[in-house]
Amino acid sequence: MKVLVTGGAGFIGSNFVHLTLRSRPEAAVTVLDSLTYAGNAASLPDDERVQLVKADIVDADTVDALVADADVVVHFAAESHNDNSLDDPTPFLHTNVIGTFTLLEACRHHGTRLHHVSTDEVYGDLELDDPDRFSPTTPYNPSSPYSATKASSDLLVRAWVRSFGVEATLSNCSNNYGPRQHVEKFIPRQITNILDGQRPKLYGAGLNVRDWIHVDDHNAAVWAVIDGGRPGQTYLIGADGELDNRTVMAAIVREMGLEPDAFDHVEDRPGHDLRYAIDASRTREELGWSPRFNDFAAGLRDTIAWYRDNEWWWRPAKAATELRYERIGR
Ligand code: NAD
Ligand code: TYD
Repeated sequence: MKVLVTGGAGFIGSNFVHLTLRSRPEAAVTVLDSLTYAGNAASLPDDERVQLVKADIVDADTVDALVADADVVVHFAAESHNDNSLDDPTPFLHTNVIGTFTLLEACRHHGTRLHHVSTDEVYGDLELDDPDRFSPTTPYNPSSPYSATKASSDLLVRAWVRSFGVEATLSNCSNNYGPRQHVEKFIPRQITNILDGQRPKLYGAGLNVRDWIHVDDHNAAVWAVIDGGRPGQTYLIGADGELDNRTVMAAIVREMGLEPDAFDHVEDRPGHDLRYAIDASRTREELGWSPRFNDFAAGLRDTIAWYRDNEWWWRPAKAATELRYERIGR
């Protein structure tokens, strides 16, 4: 089976490639990735079953040739960080919207099966006491340029299914954690700050709730959708992992041996979504998937250990990332 993975040098995509090599002996993987600041060829396994093609997903000729040769396309490539989208939305339109359009056209021409990876952020946010979590029928209501462009990409996929019969599935997952996540994101930023002797940074009061899932659970669900998902359907992926940012910060600080108040409160993110929460019943019931990493404290400990042991991986990105944060006051 030939699997084309877009964005396979990023956080979730590279973990998907590792999982695929471990669990699918019949699979050969081609990664299409332009290696933006968020992509890292060193995240990929050194294995003859994996090939990296460095190209932009809007490059229609390259995308067309790669799609023609694939049995299934798994689309992770995106600009993925909210704070960057508030600073400059332009690359988010380019990659998330035009990139997804380019890929859809190639899948349409070649009749290739596509799985589109998206986020729960397309649904906007919930109140802290809202009894209803996000489900596949929740109306789209994105807040940031990141989530608006991901919502746009989802709508394009749905339209290409309906109008052109493209055989595509979609999944919308909650916040992932685990190894190889860029140091701009919440959990790796705090871990690497502490490893550097710098204070961790909590936005605002830290009351915002995220629904954490281990990246390997997300990717196992993606495979379950590829194997058994119905074309045109949306599958929500989450592991009932709701925690507020204060609680996650406290866990990191405690696990790394610091005093409970050893972090800074910094200015809040504009338009900061309050709470995300996923109801993954359809995915669990229809596909028989369930998360295996149900102990967040243990998963966090392993993630901290990974960053301690792999400074060579994150060090090159750290200074530039913190400079960017300094510039926007967070
Ligand atoms: P990431 O930023 O770590 O990786 C994105 C990858 O895409 C990078 O390797 C980058 O080089 C590549 N890329 C960017 N623009 C490209 C372009 N124009 N052409 C080719 N490659 C390009 O992102 P991630 O956290 O791994 O997220 C992957 C996908 O999962 C995204 O679609 C994101 O919306 C979705 N998602 C992420 C989370 C999360 O918690 N991180 C949760 C749910 C869904
Ligand atoms: P992030 O990892 O950027 O993911 P998302 O915006 O997609 O949820 O942020 C997760 C949460 O952590 C979010 O509520 C913002 C907050 N946050 C901090 O408190 N401090 C930080 O340094 C960062 C990067 C994020």
